[in-house]
Amino acid sequence: MSVSDNPGPFFRIEALRQSFDGHPVLRGVSFDVPRGKTTVILGGSGAGKSVLLKHLNGLMRPLAGSVQVEGNDINDLSERDLTPIRRQIGVLFQDGALFDSLTVGENVAFPLREAGDRNEDGIRYRVNEVLELVGLKGQEWKMPGVLSGGMRKRVSLARAIAGRPACMLYDEPTAGLDPILSENITRLIAEMKDELRLTSVVVTHHLGAMRFLADQVLFLKHGEVRYCGPAAGLDDSDDREIREFISADAMGRT
Ligand SMILES: Nc1ncnc2c1ncn2[C@@H]1O[C@H](COP(=O)(O)OP(=O)(O)OP(=O)(O)O)[C@@H](O)[C@H]1O
Ligand SMILES: [Mg+2]
Repeated sequence: MSVSDNPGPFFRIEALRQSFDGHPVLRGVSFDVPRGKTTVILGGSGAGKSVLLKHLNGLMRPLAGSVQVEGNDINDLSERDLTPIRRQIGVLFQDGALFDSLTVGENVAFPLREAGDRNEDGIRYRVNEVLELVGLKGQEWKMPGVLSGGMRKRVSLARAIAGRPACMLYDEPTAGLDPILSENITRLIAEMKDELRLTSVVVTHHLGAMRFLADQVLFLKHGEVRYCGPAAGLDDSDDREIREFISADAMGRT
């Protein structure tokens, strides 16, 4: 069944549990990620947002519960069987996770080569195209070590989208960027969703970006879903933690 034929959600997460050294981090998380829409995950530091994201492409395996990608439970898949699923899912990690011994261009080309692309002209063209998209045209010969934090983040974004995934996972895409770059990246995320019909999951503390991007918001606290619904519903929430989170933003803290 092709992506467009499948009417169900892109991801279905059911009763997902994870813990480290006996400390529960995800305590029964359930939600759907609708296809072609943007789901924003909010929550304080340590709420389990990054851990949750790492389960969506099988980078972490659940202790209990399940993750379905396009209707297929990925829990029991081998690393080999996960490969084609991971190719559909681009990830922008919180720390960038660039290969420091490879140039910017080689970093961006990496997923294309890994997917078996041997067309060097095509690869070069795509690398230039996505670097231009993130505002880094002509920077392909630089080594990651000489880049600013914001540039590293944008190279990671270019690498994540290079293989034209059907879905993008973004972990704090605007953290550490100046306000203009932050707005540019937020707009780029919105454009990619609109033009490519990308399914997107965005972890962020940035409520301005959340309001701009979200079709659906998930608020995570201590590994539990405290809210799942439209962004507007957060303002009417009587959950104390959610109210505090929103009002902290009004004071310019997040
Ligand atoms: N690989 C790991 N091993 C042990 N503990 C981990 C691991 N990954 C995450 N944790 C713990 O799980 C909890 C949730 O971490 P997570 O990174 O998901 O938080 P977060 O919501 O993304 O926070 P932040 O907003 O600061 O990025 C933390 O207490 C963290 O220390
Ligand atoms: Mg995190």
